[in-house]
Order: sequence, then C-alpha cells, then structure tokens
Amino acid sequence: MGSMEAFVRDLPKAELHLHIEGSLEPELALRLARKHGAALPYASVEELRAAYDFGNLQEFLDIYYAVADVLRDADDFHDLALDYMRRAHEQGVVHAEIFFDPQTHTARGIAFGTVVEGLSRALIEAQHRFGMTHRLIACFLRHLSAADAMRTLNEVLEYRGAITAVGLDSSEVGHPPSKFAAVFDRARAQGLLTVAHAGEEGPPAYIHEALDLLRVRRIDHGVRCEEDPELVQRLAREQIPLTVCPLSNVKLRVFDRIEHHNLKRLLDAGLRVTVNSDDPAYFGGYVLENYLAVQRGLGLTRAHLATLARNSIEGSFLDDAAKRHWVAAIDARADNGSGPTGS
Ligand code: ADE
Ligand code: ZN
Repeated sequence: MGSMEAFVRDLPKAELHLHIEGSLEPELALRLARKHGAALPYASVEELRAAYDFGNLQEFLDIYYAVADVLRDADDFHDLALDYMRRAHEQGVVHAEIFFDPQTHTARGIAFGTVVEGLSRALIEAQHRFGMTHRLIACFLRHLSAADAMRTLNEVLEYRGAITAVGLDSSEVGHPPSKFAAVFDRARAQGLLTVAHAGEEGPPAYIHEALDLLRVRRIDHGVRCEEDPELVQRLAREQIPLTVCPLSNVKLRVFDRIEHHNLKRLLDAGLRVTVNSDDPAYFGGYVLENYLAVQRGLGLTRAHLATLARNSIEGSFLDDAAKRHWVAAIDARADNGSGPTGS
C-alpha cells in the first residue's frame, strides 16, 4: 500500500477556495518589490515569514493587503497565477476556482483589465501545460461600501467572458451579507453565479443571509454553522458545499489547534465539506498539506479523503460531464487505495 501522502496527491481534486493574492510567496513578493522599486515593510524572506503570526482575521488582512501592493502589471499577475497552478498541479489539483480581489488593485490605480488579462493568460497557459481547468471568481471587499461593490460589478460585467462568479470576502464581523443584497441581485440577473465567505468569524446568521439573500451556490468557510443545529440540518439537506480551509482556521485562531477542528463532525453529519487552502503562502500549506493536516489531526480514513475529493468536484462549477469523469477517476483510486482498515 502506498503512503497516505501519495494517496491524497493522486486523488483528482478541485480547489474551490483560493485567493490568488494569498498565494504570493515571499520570494516572488520581494522580486516584484525590487522590480518596481516598491517599498515593502519587510526586507527579507525571513522577515516576511516571521510576520506571519496572526491573532485573528484582521491582523492577517492588514499584512495581506500591504504585500499585494507589489502586484503592478499584467506579468506580475500572470507569474503569480502560474506559480499557483504549477504547485496545485503537482499536488493533484485538476480544477481550480480562483478568487481575486479587484478593489485591492483598482484602489491603487491598477486597471481591472490588467489584473484579469494577467490572470487569464496564466490560467489558459496552465490548461495547455498541465491540462488543468479553472474558473475565476471576483470577490467584493465587504469592509468597503455596497456602492463601491456595485461599481466593481460593472467592471466584472465588462469581462464576463473570463469571470464565472462573484464572491464576498475581507473583514467579516460587522459586514453582513445583507449589506450586498442589491449587488448580488444584479450579478445573478446578469448570469453570474454567487458565493460568499460566511461563518468564518461571523455568526451563523450570516450563513442564513448568504443563502437566503445572496442566493449563493457555496458557503466559503461556514464552520460556525455548528452553533445552529437547524442550519446544520439545512446545509446537509440542501447539500450546500462548504469550502473549509483547515490550516487557515488554525492560523487565524478560529480553532486553537487542528485536533479541535470540526471538519470531521460536519463531514460525518452529511454536509458537503471540501478542503481548500485559502491563502497558502500565509497559512503554511497548499491543498495537499491541508488534506494531510486534517487526516492526521482528526484521524480521517481513506474513505473520508475520497469523499472530500468527490465533494470538491461535485461542489465545483464544472459541467456534469466533467464532474462524472472526475468522480469516476476518484472512485477508481479509492477502490484501489483503501486497505482493510481503510487507513
Ligand atoms: N481574504 C483573503 N483571505 C480571506 C479570509 N480567510 N477571510 C476573509 N477574507 C479573506
Ligand atoms: Zn477565504
């Protein structure tokens, strides 16, 4: 029997919760800072990594937005996305649905088109080089106004050929989904799909709002649903995918240690849980490291891991034929790879 690591790596997986700005590794950040003569508050890779010790979501976001300032031209966005796709490919990710934060860039005078052009070029290249498919999801920063999000939506619509969905991220508490109901109404009326971060630091009520007011197809994070048993039942009944990010949750102190994460309980309760990396350059691992962390920390079996991979494909925005193809490939691996103990 192969190692657990090889088993997880070889399972075809979709990544559904990845902020491309959060895949900016210190090495690339420093190279781009030099390229543009941009001032970063950190002089070395070591100094940058040492700053990655967060007490909560906001402490992380402050650094994440500061470092994103080195992303200036289309080549920067291209290099960022291609680095991510290469790593994801090496870990058995066959399909990636990628968030980007337009307002983080347009607020600094970087054109929306520059961002999309660079990202799209890399994603198409990854399709040719690695056979990976992708979707792009533009997220609104919820700490900014609904009017700002609406202006951003108009730019999204100019690039609708490249963008599949809109999402909602940044500082959660105090910025409920209801603030963006009109923006999401317009996005859906224009044919975009919707997702939203909810129930990461915010209360279960934000998950209800995301479902009922924003009519999202997935909940990003969603781990605080457990505080509302009726909501847990609803998520299971409606098979709403949760894009859970275990290493992120520990780094941002949603759970104090991986052994206390509720992923296994949610999975065993029949929710469509998926495993994702969120901001891998900041949180200590890409998708494979996230799977392995919950496998070890929570004692997941190979059957659990195959279910997580299946959920990632089923919860994606791939078409039905592609879903069937990848689920069959997962089933074949799982049948080969599950020993008598299932571990
Ligand atoms: N932006 C990047 N990562 C995020 C997270 N985990 N929560 C909210 N906004 C984010
Ligand atoms: Zn996120």
